Amino acid sequence: MKNFYVCPSTDPVDPTNENYEAELIKYASLIENAGADFLHADIMDGKFVERKTFDAAVLKKIRFNTTLPLDVHLMIDYSKQQLKEFINSGANIITLHIENFIKKNKLKKCKLKKAMKLIKKSNCLVGLSLKPQTEEKFVFKFLKYIDLVLIMSVEPGKSGQKFIESTYERVKNFASLKETNNFNFLIEVDGGITPEISKKLKSFGADAVVSGSYIFKADLKEEAINSFKN
Ligand code: DX5
Ligand code: ZN
Repeated sequence: MKNFYVCPSTDPVDPTNENYEAELIKYASLIENAGADFLHADIMDGKFVERKTFDAAVLKKIRFNTTLPLDVHLMIDYSKQQLKEFINSGANIITLHIENFIKKNKLKKCKLKKAMKLIKKSNCLVGLSLKPQTEEKFVFKFLKYIDLVLIMSVEPGKSGQKFIESTYERVKNFASLKETNNFNFLIEVDGGITPEISKKLKSFGADAVVSGSYIFKADLKEEAINSFKN
């Protein structure tokens, strides 16, 4: 049986809490002890999405306090400098949003290739994410170069939203391209996922699910994480 990864996200940890960094570190170790596979770090800059979470310096501190692979979801207005900082912060997977590279419905291929090269050069895995309304074709061209596709099943920006049903179709499309072409990328889905939804996503070919609020709210973290695997 293939591996299936459960990736609790940092997003539900409240950025307005005065002990935000400590709370993030605490949450990382809580879910590590409960058997999470990756820590999904939701990075928001208040520009690409409305909310703001944390930067590369904080991610570095989290890195020192957990052995979990860091799955970094960059919801920021892309800049090369910021990308370098995240690469150097101990991230294991860095996922870029394809929308950062689309201008007037055209994909800036060179810019994207350069960013991907930078990530790979540092031995990080590279992911590409797409919002629910973004056409899949923009990502298709890059499937052979990436390690992960992050399919957004809600509008990026906050946890606790409702799962968008058309995501199932999307997962099937990526899974079928993966199989036909013998590609290696993981299919990860993010937003509004419950254990029931996770089961369906897995059956359609997903390899990983992100969970924000469901796992954050659960009293029994281990049980909650396991419920996504069944
Ligand atoms: C949304 C974030 C998600 C979020 C998921 O923008 O990318 O990772 O934390 O949270 P839930 O599972 O509550 O939708
Ligand atoms: Zn995310």
